[in-house]
Parts: sequence; structure tokens; C-alpha cells
Amino acid sequence: MKPRVLVYTKYSTDLPRFVEMLSPDAAQADFAFATTPEEAAPHLPTTEILYGWGFPLAMTKSMPRLKWIQKMGAGVEDVSGVKWPFKDSVILTRTDGRLIAPRMVEYVLAAVLRRTLKTEATDSLRRRREWGYVELGSVRQETIGIAGLGEIGSEVAKAFRALGAKVVGWRRSDTPSPEVDRLFVGPEGLRDFLSSASTVVLVLPKTDETRRLIGREALAAVRPGVHLVNVGRGDLVDEPALLEALDSGRVGHATMDVFATEPLPPEHPFWDHPKVSMTPHLSGPLIPEDVAPHFLRNLQAYLERGTLQNVVDPQRQY
Ligand code: GLV
Repeated sequence: MKPRVLVYTKYSTDLPRFVEMLSPDAAQADFAFATTPEEAAPHLPTTEILYGWGFPLAMTKSMPRLKWIQKMGAGVEDVSGVKWPFKDSVILTRTDGRLIAPRMVEYVLAAVLRRTLKTEATDSLRRRREWGYVELGSVRQETIGIAGLGEIGSEVAKAFRALGAKVVGWRRSDTPSPEVDRLFVGPEGLRDFLSSASTVVLVLPKTDETRRLIGREALAAVRPGVHLVNVGRGDLVDEPALLEALDSGRVGHATMDVFATEPLPPEHPFWDHPKVSMTPHLSGPLIPEDVAPHFLRNLQAYLERGTLQNVVDPQRQY
């Protein structure tokens, strides 16, 4: 019998694209599609494979036949970090970050280039119709510090190196990292890492170890005026401490795509803070055409009882 696959995305506009990408494989699996818990409900008792994004975890309580969850994105903290009924008998895989990385690289480059190209100052000249002079900076004068050198962080590092920036990295293990000029490792390397970078880019997953990594102590170690870019997860940052650091000038600017609470509440000070640039968690979009081929390869392996790629390590939580 063909296994039932429930494809769930909270982005309803993506659904027809997933239907198109997956329909050639209908001979091998019985696909059902949903964008809301109500649409998913009739399929839960029979689903063996959940390929999803933005589904409520409580849904899995009604999925006694579930054997494998493939997240459409790279982040799995909503599933890996919490207890749920069938956890021990279900395989959890995530999408290879390299499929999402190219757009995230562009996002981070744009964030840094806006600062080095002093777009705020040049826009202000233009608004005043003033033919003035502003000395533009260059990434070649920057030290880009990348916290998290996994599938995505490594690509960010390579892009900045290619533009001539000095790149330093921070990671939990001392895995060789040829894409950075200097590597700092583990909690004992964090302070030196932070003090060496003019821009700190967070590309870490949310785990018990990374929660509030950038708190008061870390912010006391950064270079004064540092640019903080967060494309990892909001929980990496102690947001009240960051606000204080922005207000005191310790942090010069923060570019954030992710927040401790999403959606960011309308009254949150980040929305109109003059030293904050922000977007609503869209730097690494899960473009169906980019990510579905990864699932199809894993599905093939699953059907042939082969080895699945990007299986989440429960110890590491990613
Ligand atoms: C997006 O946030 C992802 O985890 O892929």
C-alpha cells in the first residue's frame, strides 16, 4: 500500500506549487494537502509521513500512524525541543540549509552593504537636494563575525570572503572551518569572537545551548557600535538587553528577521526604533521549487528503506 503523505504549509499561496512539484510522484505515495488544521484533520488518522511547515504540534496527537516528519525548513525547534506523544518512534528530518542559504546570503549582504554604502546618509542628501560628499565604506574594511558555521553560516562566510572582508566564525565544535580567517570555539571563545567583529551575524539554530546567547554579558563584549544581524532565531537574543545596548550606543544598529515572539506584537519598540531594521521572518523563504526536491530524494530513500538525509540529532536539537 502507498504511504499517506500529508503536505502542510501555513502559506496557502505555496500550496499549488507544492501540488505541482509533488504530483509526478503520486504513483509512489498518496498525497494529501492542507494549509489549516481543519483541512488537515480528515487525513491525520492515516498519515504516515508529514511534510510540513507551520503546523501545530498538537496535530500529531491525532496521528497514530506517523513515522516520519520532514520539516520544509531548516529550523526544527518547534518539534525537536518539545515533548510530544509519538516522539520516540518518529524520525525527524529537516531541509538542508544549503537550499535556503543563497537567499539568506543576499539578505545578510544587503544588510551589511546598506551600512557600508551609508544609504541613510546618501538618502538624506537626496531628500535635501544637496550635492554633498559622503565617504562610502567598504566590506573590505569590515570584520564579519558569523556565529553558526553550519550549512547556511558557511555560505554567508564564503560570500563575504569573496568580497574581501575579513571573516571570523564562532561555533560549538572545533570542526575545521576553511571558510573563515579565524575560528572561535565554544562558550570560552565567545567573548573574543564578539570583540573581534564589526558586524556580528547570528545564523544559529534555537537550542537549549543557544537560548539568550546574546545577553547583557555578551553585549558588554561586542565592539562599540557593532552591527548585529539576526537571521537565526529570536530566542538567541535577550531583547530587552539589546534595546538597552542600542539606546546606549554599544550596539550601533540591529538588523533582525527573527524575534523572540512572532508575530512581533504591534506595540513592540523594535517596530519604530531608529537603530533597527527589521523584516517579518522572511530572509530564508521556503520556495517550493527550492526545497521540494530535497523531500523527494528523502521520500525515495524512505520508500527503499535507505538512509534519510538531514536526520535531526536529538542531542544537538538540529
Ligand atoms: C526558516 O526559518 C527555517 O527554519 O527554514
